[in-house]
Amino acid sequence: MTAQDAVTPEKILQMGFGFWASKTLLSAVELGLFTELAKGAADAETLRTRLRLHPRAARDFFDALVALGMLERQDGRYRNTAASGAFLDRAKASYVGGLLEMANARLYGFWGSLTEALRSGQPQNEAKTGESFFHKLYQDPEKLKVFAKAMTAVSFGPALAIAAKFPWTRYKTFADIGTAEGGLPVHLARAHPHLTGIGFDLPPVQPVFEAFVAANGLSQRLSFRGGDFLMDALPPGEVYVMGHILHGFGLEDKLAILRRALAALPAGGALIVYDSIIDDERRENALGLLMSLNMLIETPAGYDYTGADCIGWMRETGFRDMRAEHLAGPASMVVGFK
Ligand SMILES: C[S@@+](CC[C@H](N)C(=O)[O-])C[C@H]1O[C@@H](n2cnc3c(N)ncnc32)[C@H](O)[C@@H]1O
Repeated sequence: MTAQDAVTPEKILQMGFGFWASKTLLSAVELGLFTELAKGAADAETLRTRLRLHPRAARDFFDALVALGMLERQDGRYRNTAASGAFLDRAKASYVGGLLEMANARLYGFWGSLTEALRSGQPQNEAKTGESFFHKLYQDPEKLKVFAKAMTAVSFGPALAIAAKFPWTRYKTFADIGTAEGGLPVHLARAHPHLTGIGFDLPPVQPVFEAFVAANGLSQRLSFRGGDFLMDALPPGEVYVMGHILHGFGLEDKLAILRRALAALPAGGALIVYDSIIDDERRENALGLLMSLNMLIETPAGYDYTGADCIGWMRETGFRDMRAEHLAGPASMVVGFK
């Protein structure tokens, strides 16, 4: 066989029709299929009836999920895989489906306008009708809760790595700027009993933060401070953490946020920035690059960045001794000191 014979369109077609598989999974999450199967294995007809599906395509839908590796089928009965049972059952604390529910309800449709966004440079989400993402989301306490929980799931790996990779013994206090539910503060407080911390976020987030911290028995060491990090005083802390914050803003606001952090930190304090940081060559971290396109869809000026970009901005604002370090999956951090 010549090298030319080996060239096939398979990968191209698979990627081009990738939305078939993606939407099949998102609809299964929306319908609560994995939550239903977590209660016990079921045959096609039982599952179809419980999910209130039309008979026409129910079996194809279930078997497609088998072929995609999201379900198992034995003797005509469907059950969750180890992963779908752990992460897609709404009744479990490890549920990551909140993020997929959000992707299904919002991003799946908005990404249909990617070409328009690339041409116009304009966001394609709720902002198109004049509303900001967090403003719209936080009008509904249930959606706020689902979003904040989803952030805890997304940041699970990076938070464990930050707890392990930063020299926390040198510090006593920290503040998580844009904390959501408080997933990172809870990991840090559990891993380092000498630390106390503050979760800083927009005021509507307070009840979900406080409930999560209380459920983890950490209310004595972790507290909430409400405010807007673009305008209000930042909370006290020797170390600031900013996870998935800077990528939501254009350069001017990125620099303004870094300057505000530098001004508020004590001498010797540290800033940890983490995101799906793009590799410096901009050719490997596909998720970081796609996340940046997602910021095009979601924000007026946001974009993701490389470690070298972030180190440059931190140097420009006056931080010193910066280093970039991989955390988990697509996430990396940049650390700098005052
Ligand atoms: C993408 S989430 C990141 C959550 C968490 N840091 C993580 O990485 O898992 C962004 C968070 O920043 C908060 N946020 C957005 N704009 C803010 C602002 N201007 N001031 C304070 N918090 C803000 C949001 O409410 C949300 O909880």
